[in-house]
Amino acid sequence: MPPTPPLTAAITLTPLLILLFFTIPAASWRPWPLNTNHSSTDSLFGDSKKYEGSSQFVKMRYHMGPILTANITIYPIWYGAWRRSQKHIIRDFINSISAADSKPPSVAAWWKTVQLYTDQTGANTSRTVRIGAEKNDRLYSHGKSLTRLSVQSVIKSAVAASTRRLPINPKSGVYLLLTSDDVYVQDFCNNVCGFHYFTFPSIVGYTLPYAWVGNSAKLCPGVCAYPFAVPDYIPGLKAVKTPNDDVGVDAMISVIAHELAEVATNPFVNAWYAGQDPVFPVEIADLCEGIYGTGGGGSYTGQMLNDVDGATYNMNGIRRRFLVQWVWNNLLKYCAGPNALDQ
Ligand SMILES: *[C@@H]1O[C@H](CO)[C@@H](O)[C@H](O)[C@H]1NC(C)=O
Ligand SMILES: *[C@@H]1O[C@H](CO)[C@@H](O)[C@H](O)[C@H]1NC(C)=O
Ligand SMILES: *[C@@H]1O[C@H](CO)[C@@H](O)[C@H](O)[C@H]1NC(C)=O
Repeated sequence: MPPTPPLTAAITLTPLLILLFFTIPAASWRPWPLNTNHSSTDSLFGDSKKYEGSSQFVKMRYHMGPILTANITIYPIWYGAWRRSQKHIIRDFINSISAADSKPPSVAAWWKTVQLYTDQTGANTSRTVRIGAEKNDRLYSHGKSLTRLSVQSVIKSAVAASTRRLPINPKSGVYLLLTSDDVYVQDFCNNVCGFHYFTFPSIVGYTLPYAWVGNSAKLCPGVCAYPFAVPDYIPGLKAVKTPNDDVGVDAMISVIAHELAEVATNPFVNAWYAGQDPVFPVEIADLCEGIYGTGGGGSYTGQMLNDVDGATYNMNGIRRRFLVQWVWNNLLKYCAGPNALDQ
């Protein structure tokens, strides 16, 4: 594990420095390449490519840190107002990751690309992802506007609660903070739809991998719920129909997938990433953001599937269908997913 700032060091720094150096998340994510000039995929890959995101220039490298090789347990923290139907969609998705008997193209087949990443000992990323204890934070314990530091305080509250506290599981636990559509998180909508990082002992008492994903339905669906919603300023672009009738939650699925793929392969931000700068690592899902099918790249999502009701999806899971972005396959050196037409 990387060194984390001890309490004494952290409190002597100004808040600004703390923000700059210690709270930058490992990944921030938007499904829609708003400024294609700054999109890593576009600038690296150009127009003529055989495969989605194919590039000889991407050097996805292993930096010797741990990955999540033991059975992964997700601890959802439901922050704010969540409907049962919304929780069902998200739980079904997480449970689908290890549901090998789902109809192809399946979520479980999508996770196989994540399993290709190994650690120093040659152990692969865990095949098994399951849901552990869950925590409800219905009364917005830290308000309706969270900073990156107060996100850690929400996790602290969940693992230190006097009743039904979440277990401490630094080796194979992922604490998944899900905020309802009336909660703002620092930088949300400003091209950030979710991020992952690890908690600081000075705040939480432990170094725990965590991820945050927000429901953008009210705040910025055109940014974070694309292609189920589209930005107003792009004329002629049409939103596609959701597979589970919930624009905000259906869009969260792909962001949750993105963050889980990255937290599993880079939980302490010292394992798998590309780029020179560990402060802004380019991780296995960053390279494929906005790509859901064959031909995807730039502002094109790639070929997706339609069900009989006209809903758009690209993979099957338990009881449902989902639209999930692809991830970087480091053996093939391109973005891959179970619905690829050439596999
Ligand atoms: C992208 O770059 C081109 C020239 O390199 C420029 O004409 C165009 O306005 C840029 N687009 C955006 C969205 O910045
Ligand atoms: C483990 O990773 C190696 C290297 O990427 C790969 O060849 C192998 O198929 C992976 N095993 C599993 C079970 O995914
Ligand atoms: C990990 O999960 C598998 C099911 O995928 C199960 O058979 C195995 O016993 C689990 N291992 C541990 C240590 O819990």
